[in-house]
Amino acid sequence: MIQKSPLSEKFSRKTSISATRNAAHIQQILKKVLPKYGSVLEIGSGTGQHSVVFAEALPSLKWIPSDADNLNFDSINGWRQLAINNTPDTPRLIDASSGNWFFNVNDNITSIVVINVIHISPWSVTKGILKGAQQILPRGGVLYFYGPFIQDNITTAHSNLAFDNYLKTENSSWGLRNLKEIESLAQEHSLVLEPVIKMPANNLSVIFKKK
Ligand SMILES: C[S@@+](CC[C@H](N)C(=O)[O-])C[C@H]1O[C@@H](n2cnc3c(N)ncnc32)[C@H](O)[C@@H]1O
Repeated sequence: MIQKSPLSEKFSRKTSISATRNAAHIQQILKKVLPKYGSVLEIGSGTGQHSVVFAEALPSLKWIPSDADNLNFDSINGWRQLAINNTPDTPRLIDASSGNWFFNVNDNITSIVVINVIHISPWSVTKGILKGAQQILPRGGVLYFYGPFIQDNITTAHSNLAFDNYLKTENSSWGLRNLKEIESLAQEHSLVLEPVIKMPANNLSVIFKKK
């Protein structure tokens, strides 16, 4: 859910309630799991709120926001203006489902971060992200997903089942993804699943490393 922040008139920034709630929790994990050098490509940056929080928290990394919808760029740029020590890069237009992302080698992308995107988009987006990660990450590079998932042999929380139903009524190609299905496709793209980290509100941090 997206709300206008009080300063939005001046800066066109939007805030997301979920991003406000989850930013500190995700930041703790990113600090531990992301490589300490290079750039982070964020897929589906949305409001851009996370971009500035994480760029400031991880000053050795360049943060590159992106989205498939350039209507979000105004807000992303609004948040970029708040950075003090490590300003995120200008947002890039990336439709993750295309799976063919062109980057300058100077971008030196060592990780890809995807927060609350793959259940609110068709499966082709997940496939495109795995393909893109294989293409641009170096050996040891990290692909990080955050969000709700379905896991085999683990009861899905009622709230997540209700959310899944809601998403499917909004768009039949959306819905919570099965982690096992992602993992088996990831293997085909030289991406190995690391231990899954439980996050508040029945979300997960799911980390893949490039072989
Ligand atoms: C629920 S929002 C999450 C935004 C942000 N990551 C956050 O956590 O606040 C989902 C975002 O995914 C983006 N998105 C949807 N389909 C996409 C695609 N094919 N490629 C890249 N981004 C996409 C949407 O434009 C939107 O900004």
